[in-house]
Amino acid sequence: ITVYIPRDSGALAVGAEAVADAVLAQAHSRGIEIDLVRNGSRGLYWLEPLVEVETPQGRVAYGPVAIDDVPALFEADFLHGGDHALCQGLTEAIPYLRAQQRLTFQRVGVTDPLSLDDYRDHDGYRGLARALEMSPADIVEAVTDSGLRGRGGAAFPTGIKWKTVLDAAGPTKYIVCNADEGDSGTFSDRMVMEGDPYLLIEGMTIAGLAVGAEQGYIYLRSEYPHAERTLEEAIIRAEAAGYLGDDIQGSGKRFHLEVRRAAGAYVCGEETALLESLEGKRGQVRAKPPLPAIQGLFNKPTVVNNVISLASVPAILDKGAAFYRDYGMGRSRGTLPIQLTGNIRRGGLIELGFGITLKELIYDYGGGTASGRPVKAVQVGGPLGAYIPADQLDTPLDYETFIAAQGTVGHGGIVVFDETTDMAHMAHHAMAFCAFESCGKCTPCRIGSTRGVELLERIMAERGQGSDPAQVELLRELCDTLVNGSLCALGGMTPFPVLSALEHFPADFGLVAETAH
Ligand code: NAI
Ligand code: SF4
Repeated sequence: ITVYIPRDSGALAVGAEAVADAVLAQAHSRGIEIDLVRNGSRGLYWLEPLVEVETPQGRVAYGPVAIDDVPALFEADFLHGGDHALCQGLTEAIPYLRAQQRLTFQRVGVTDPLSLDDYRDHDGYRGLARALEMSPADIVEAVTDSGLRGRGGAAFPTGIKWKTVLDAAGPTKYIVCNADEGDSGTFSDRMVMEGDPYLLIEGMTIAGLAVGAEQGYIYLRSEYPHAERTLEEAIIRAEAAGYLGDDIQGSGKRFHLEVRRAAGAYVCGEETALLESLEGKRGQVRAKPPLPAIQGLFNKPTVVNNVISLASVPAILDKGAAFYRDYGMGRSRGTLPIQLTGNIRRGGLIELGFGITLKELIYDYGGGTASGRPVKAVQVGGPLGAYIPADQLDTPLDYETFIAAQGTVGHGGIVVFDETTDMAHMAHHAMAFCAFESCGKCTPCRIGSTRGVELLERIMAERGQGSDPAQVELLRELCDTLVNGSLCALGGMTPFPVLSALEHFPADFGLVAETAH
């Protein structure tokens, strides 16, 4: 009997390890032999620890399972899909999962993350097999035709980035994976690295073949120790099986891969600060140009891509550019792994083609707020994303729609806030975050963020008596300076949460008597 209990960090955080031990101990004491697989998470986080059992009808899910539930589950014969209050039925039939369009996440939570056999049995390494038969230019063309845009947040066309590196002169080029996932409310990179590490390895190998790079680095967030262990082991196994190294699958092509642990600075998710850090220097932003695609790591042409961008590539090569492009809307093609968090009843990972509205996500998938109170605002795209008020939740997730609304889809993180949230406090938090994380290279961000914190503290102190409009005007001017004068997105985007909070919730800043929304 095969039982699945995730080793994903999100599941471990709510006790999956102890539940796994308890299930093994119960089985042992009852003389039952089970095959326990430590899978990735299905992304149904409100049900973690989610225990699944293989049955002739398919996998049956139980969750959230506490240690104390384990004896009763055995009594209920859960090993044969028996009924119990925690039984969620067939995993694949859970509406949250069934309605998704999982391309990048097709194996996450399904397979044993470190089993190469499992990976291949579920279509793994088919994209690489195709790539090995293609010319570099044809691989780049396939990625361009798929419409894939950078999933780290900037949405730059991946194929065009790869073409720039392919066309750049010089024998030495690099592939760098940006796995310094620092946005608040995001965890899709981590889920892939912990739950399907060969997918990222395959995507990076294909990128290497496409641009002529023989060395890759995964710049991994230091707070992801489980991802680090999984990736290190997966790289060793991929090398032993000839998927990495000096002769990939007998093709004579080379690709080597190493994991480098980041040091905990948000700004090192910015690609040039990341490259500095990877070179062993202090993580400070470099001026662009030159673009990393021309002069990147150690001044060599370098592809810097987010985990999800690279992890999207194997399916594109395997199933074809047109297959991938068919998902989505407008110029946002393919699927987006959305991470639903904050004050929400059912938080988790939802992979869908672009175009779903925030309302559908929050109510149909998320089941509304966890507190049961009305939604006040939603922050999309990380700590530098705009706050969307409750009456604009019909906004579809699409890069262009969000840019037009002065926001960003970013890395697909959605954080929900209920009516008790003080939006002036959130604006203050954005400035304080910027001040704390600023790399110090440029003046608007280094000094402006601290002035912004001070200004917001004055506004908040006075708001009971009604704010001084001159202070608010000064805050707007400061934001204008940050947007237009900052060297990178950290300073350049900090005004988005501040100005959107000010626009939609003036009452929280003491500007009008009634809340606008
Ligand atoms: P950007 O627009 O300057 O660049 C996007 C990418 O395209 C870069 O890799 C750049 O080198 C490349 N590029 C631009 N023109 C090119 C050309 N002609 N040829 C080849 N490559 C070219 O944006 P940036 O500053 O890299 O990223 C900002 C974004 O990062 C924000 O939108 C934000 O959403 C996101 N972000 C994501 C975080 C996360 O945790 N995933 C954290 C913080 C910010
Ligand atoms: Fe550094 Fe801030 Fe300037 Fe970016 S905007 S380069 S983080 S000081």
